[in-house]
Amino acid sequence: MAQFRLPKNSRIGKGKHFAAPEGASHIKTFRVYRFDPESGENPRIDSYDIDLDQCGPMVLDALIKIKNEVDPTLTFRRSCREGICGSCAFNIDGTNTLACTKSIDEIRGEVKIYPLPHMPVIKDLVPDLTHFYAQYASIRPWIRTQSPAPPDKERLQSREDRARMDGLYECILCACCSTSCPSYWWNGERYLGPAVLLQAYRWLVDSRDEATGERLDELEDPFRLYRCHTIMNCTRTCPKGLNPAKAIAEIKKMMLARRSL
Ligand code: SF4
Ligand code: SF4
Ligand code: FES
Repeated sequence: MAQFRLPKNSRIGKGKHFAAPEGASHIKTFRVYRFDPESGENPRIDSYDIDLDQCGPMVLDALIKIKNEVDPTLTFRRSCREGICGSCAFNIDGTNTLACTKSIDEIRGEVKIYPLPHMPVIKDLVPDLTHFYAQYASIRPWIRTQSPAPPDKERLQSREDRARMDGLYECILCACCSTSCPSYWWNGERYLGPAVLLQAYRWLVDSRDEATGERLDELEDPFRLYRCHTIMNCTRTCPKGLNPAKAIAEIKKMMLARRSL
């Protein structure tokens, strides 16, 4: 699996070491990126020796244990603890993934935890996702229609039409894929990146949506769509097993089909 770049503000200083309690016998070391812009200090890597006999099985369990019992200054996002909210996405052991579904046992040696790569860091493991969310909003991720809604029921879909959204609707917008994509690292201001493009495709294939042409017009741009060079990091890293690279290829096919009409 590719080793991704450090976050943008990352000249590493000397970190602190927190030893395990006396008597602990099943110790694993967690090396965690720390950065507090308000301190004026460089980022550093702190190491925490954790007794795995007193810790849950997932990387997020260890982070919560560190925060609750060892070092309350550690900052990270999390919410659901079951791979649904997308907020505990970090670079763990060189791969972007969700801490709540990543088993500690799968990691040999020390566990290295960084924020999602190549993003500005607000504090410790918390990246600034403002631009990512603005890009998501830019595709207007809701049903756009001209026809009036049926007076007495919802806009229905056949089972087949509904199935076209399989592999798309499951996206939890964790940003693991976009922050693994070299094209997004270098052109993220203008390239929408794999997560937002997968979402764009989700609306393009929704049989209830009536703005397909408009949506394609909005993507027809040398940067917004066409900076994908099929490097595939996005698909390799998605913790939900989705395939953003394929969704992007499908959008490009829709563009071609419409040009040849
Ligand atoms: S496609 Fe996968 S990696 Fe990308 S945002 Fe969605 S769930 Fe996360
Ligand atoms: S396939 Fe496209 S979107 Fe995915 S990592 Fe490669 S360049 Fe980025
Ligand atoms: S805490 Fe929600 S996905 Fe990990």
